[in-house]
Amino acid sequence: VTFSDDNSRVTAELPTGETVEILLYGATVISWKDSRGDEKLWLSEAAKLDGSKPVRGGIPLVFPVFGTAPNHASASKLPQHGFARNNRWEFLGKSTSESAAGKQAADLSVKLDFGLSSSAVSNSDLWPFKFNLIYSVTLNRENLTTSLVVTNDDDKPFECQVLMHTYLRVKDITQVKITGLDGASYTDKVDGASTKSQSGDVTITGETDRVYTPKGGPSDPVSVVESGKTPYTVTRDNLSNVVVWNPWTEKAEGMADFAPKDGYKNMLCIEPGAVGAWQTLEAGDAFEGAQTITIPY
Ligand code: BG6
Repeated sequence: VTFSDDNSRVTAELPTGETVEILLYGATVISWKDSRGDEKLWLSEAAKLDGSKPVRGGIPLVFPVFGTAPNHASASKLPQHGFARNNRWEFLGKSTSESAAGKQAADLSVKLDFGLSSSAVSNSDLWPFKFNLIYSVTLNRENLTTSLVVTNDDDKPFECQVLMHTYLRVKDITQVKITGLDGASYTDKVDGASTKSQSGDVTITGETDRVYTPKGGPSDPVSVVESGKTPYTVTRDNLSNVVVWNPWTEKAEGMADFAPKDGYKNMLCIEPGAVGAWQTLEAGDAFEGAQTITIPY
């Protein structure tokens, strides 16, 4: 594990060459490379990494609101996607482990923990609750797991939503299909938030912004298939929704921090979350949700 000179980010590398890089701002994973050095995440060339705005790319964390909630009692003042992605988190440390099966380097994994608590966020006017967040990023040879634990440290309940806004890098969006969502109902945000049912695989042929509720359990995989290969398989733990987002031409054009403008061809957001309903956390209770993204190696 190494730290950048300006203490803005943490990088970890496995003996087998895989790397992950996390910006303390937002605890945003901004890079994940396999042993060949191939980047798995899409990061905009115009992304701000200086803490001036949420990162366009990588894995921004969405908490405690997905989108905005102007009519919600306690979440109405929150900025789009909440404040987890635009506050500086604390690095809590790393742990490494080897599988019991053997002592080969290939079995090694590294886990990096980050924390953000209400005392570190000056937002009591935005969201009046005491909370603690622990975010763990675990790198293995064949996958990356990100896991968030939300604890209610207040003496009253609160409602929240959680989502991992993963920007996966693809070679050519027109060659991509997403499997594992057949039969799932979804809210189509580019069609007046109407409710629809997915039939067959998902292909992306224009602006796409959908909140899916897959029929199977969270561990049922959602896979990205491209030109006959399966570069990514995403499983979830306790996250019942999957948002599928691609801005396509016009939306990409409209985002100042989106570059190159045809970068939408090389990205696909597959965002596991608990956003279909509010999660109610009683005083002292915790909520844990995780995603695991598996790559072939
Ligand atoms: C997605 C939302 O998760 O995030 C979209 O479903 C939104 O509606 C997109 O446009 C990007 O949001 P932002 O705030 O990072 O521009």
